[in-house]
Amino acid sequence: MTQDDVFKKIVAHCKEYGFVFPSSEIYDGLGAVYDYGQMGVEMKNNIKSYWWQSMVLLHDNIVGIDSSIFMHPTIWKASGHVDAFNDPLIDNRDSKKRYRADVLIEEQIAKYDDKIEKEIAKARKRFGDSFDEAQYRATSKNVLEHRTKRDALHERYAKAMNDNNLDELKQIILDEEIVCPISGTRNWTDVRQFNLMFSTEMGSTSDGAMKIYLRPETAQGIFVNYLNVQKTGRMKLPFGIAQIGKAFRNEIVARQFIFRMREFEQMEMQFFIKPGTELDWFAKWKQTRLKWHLALGFGEDKYRFHDHDKLAHYANAATDIEFLMPFGFKEVEGIHSRTNFDLSQHEKFSGKNIRYFDPDTNESYTPYVIETSIGVDRMFLSIICAAYEEQALENGESRVVLHLPAALAPVKLGILPLVKKDGLPELAHRIQNDLKFHFNCQYDEKDSIGKRYRRQDAIGTPYCITVDHQSLEDGTVTLRDRDTMQQQRIRIDDLCGIISDSVTITGILKTL
Ligand code: GAP
Repeated sequence: MTQDDVFKKIVAHCKEYGFVFPSSEIYDGLGAVYDYGQMGVEMKNNIKSYWWQSMVLLHDNIVGIDSSIFMHPTIWKASGHVDAFNDPLIDNRDSKKRYRADVLIEEQIAKYDDKIEKEIAKARKRFGDSFDEAQYRATSKNVLEHRTKRDALHERYAKAMNDNNLDELKQIILDEEIVCPISGTRNWTDVRQFNLMFSTEMGSTSDGAMKIYLRPETAQGIFVNYLNVQKTGRMKLPFGIAQIGKAFRNEIVARQFIFRMREFEQMEMQFFIKPGTELDWFAKWKQTRLKWHLALGFGEDKYRFHDHDKLAHYANAATDIEFLMPFGFKEVEGIHSRTNFDLSQHEKFSGKNIRYFDPDTNESYTPYVIETSIGVDRMFLSIICAAYEEQALENGESRVVLHLPAALAPVKLGILPLVKKDGLPELAHRIQNDLKFHFNCQYDEKDSIGKRYRRQDAIGTPYCITVDHQSLEDGTVTLRDRDTMQQQRIRIDDLCGIISDSVTITGILKTL
């Protein structure tokens, strides 16, 4: 099965089991907008709690806020989003399809990378155990040819992007003979800039109405509340402000399910620091954030840093934490050293003094900022992709199982009476009524016990208990582990303690 097929199966699985639905589906959907179903919302809330608690509970110098989506339009002028939050777009005249010029070129670069990897794979097969990959990469004529073309293209592309040279981007597309995947032609329009912010109007009369934007990032809500929080919270530098909330971008190319959406959710933390200390804090937050990801237990080889060559005009260091999705390593989180750009801009545009008086040095300055910014939806997708497994069982059957970290699983315990009679449902309900105050339980009495286990495996429930006739006699049940499928008999009175310990977010937080 190709990775493409695996991904299609994951998308179908998300729908079938109530994790993610296409938005407005009965009206044929709305591009790149998705709804979370009954399982998805539980898991999403758990991801948000894990992030929030790791920031706000574990750091006594980080506090949270919840700012509005609508903000004064000058904020977006000050932040640079009105003038510079653009993607270069290009249309194919034959298919009438619109593309991001930068994405077309990046895909072309990826094709050279693919060619190189295919050459390596072929050679590995040919030479077997004696294959020296490093030497082959350095000497193979074909590999070197692809590498030269790839590097030249990358350099030309990076320069065009840095210079904001739209004509050059088009020329690269023509020179590389990139065709539209739909029409197969090279009948391209010029490249134009397209602002990604959605706008609407606030106010009742058309002449008095004000054009406002749906926020494209939550970060600006933090910057414009910096003074409020610093003063009312009597915060001393260094300190952070965390926020979780919706963001909106009119993405030209929205693909790969919930990876790139037009309405999505961010978890952002702006850490305010003394100028000059930013590179130390940047390094520290890189490690802190990677540790947060690794604590979920999917393994180090699923993550990598991608340091930015091209820095935004306000940044002096930036990296992405990338996760190995079925469609390659992709950005899940950005960590940026944003200097004092945002606060200075808001100082300039609002006319308010946004400086910090440092009581230790008697100096006053505009704080620098390290930002950690992660998409909830991308995090969700990365977890589902890593957790999904189609497993062949020893008895010749198969199952689909989500190996979700127990703390993030939507349901923690499936409660299954062996039969729908003899008082077993009543005892199962009594257990549920007891445990539901501690964690999310799901009662299920329909179909055979095997089918019920499969349903719980498919939603990633870490534990199931079966209530049987022995339960009535001695107050015990069987507890089944999702991953090992092993069962053990335990006392009903011990259930809460055993399960609580392994399904709470506190358990992961303690490993950080
Ligand atoms: N405040 C900085 C900022 O917004 P970004 O790299 O543009 O930086 C941060 O976005 C994170 O938000 C990304 O790493 C990604 O996880 C998520 N994100 C951005 N655009 C997204 C989209 N269209 N759909 C889903 N998630 C997105």
